[in-house]
Amino acid sequence: MALSRKIILVVPLICCSLLSGNDAVPSHRNKLLGELPSAAPAPSPSDKQVLDLAGNAVDTVASKHNAQLVALCQDAESPTLCVDTIAPFIQGALDPVVALKAEMGATMNITVKVSNTIKTLHAKPETTKDEKASLDICADQYSSIVDTINDCLDSIKQNDVYGAWMKFAAVLSYQQACEDAFKEGGGSIPFPEDSKTLFQLGGNCLAILMHLSGETSPY
Ligand SMILES: *[C@@H]1O[C@H](CO)[C@@H](O)[C@H](O)[C@H]1NC(C)=O
Repeated sequence: MALSRKIILVVPLICCSLLSGNDAVPSHRNKLLGELPSAAPAPSPSDKQVLDLAGNAVDTVASKHNAQLVALCQDAESPTLCVDTIAPFIQGALDPVVALKAEMGATMNITVKVSNTIKTLHAKPETTKDEKASLDICADQYSSIVDTINDCLDSIKQNDVYGAWMKFAAVLSYQQACEDAFKEGGGSIPFPEDSKTLFQLGGNCLAILMHLSGETSPY
């Protein structure tokens, strides 16, 4: 069992080392890129156990893979949230592109959640005209976030990680513009936690995109 697991896991390790070369993409990567993160099964209890052991110097293949995820997330906006949201979608060795798509999927999910919140609040009779105006601005921003994430996922499918990175930064601007819509109206945003989570998940995506782009600053 231990031996066969090792053999299976060596292959993705080799494949990931090719990631930095954008042109030399193995054909099986295209298949990987076509898979949505949401298609991955939930983590089994044994995976969780391995995660907990990662801090201790347990030299298992699984803890090594978790260490790879921790390393990928270490410079993220929220390293803990980064690891927690990606871990369920990682089976063997860490494929940073799979990790990135999982984090983008998590960002998409919170965006959809907030969009629904905005609709619900807008429909409430007690919502004031000013609040509705701010909610309208936010609805536009969150719709733009959905478009941007989809656009970035397309770029990643075409192996244009750098292009995705450049585009994805807009997500945080849209998030900020929604917060500002309420601040400028003298009120406070009615969904502060989700807005903060979106900021953190978006920042995590940006950190991974930067990592995959070879950590060269475009500015
Ligand atoms: C997004 O939400 C769906 C539905 O709750 C869930 O199945 C999926 O795993 C989530 N995706 C990510 C990347 O968290």
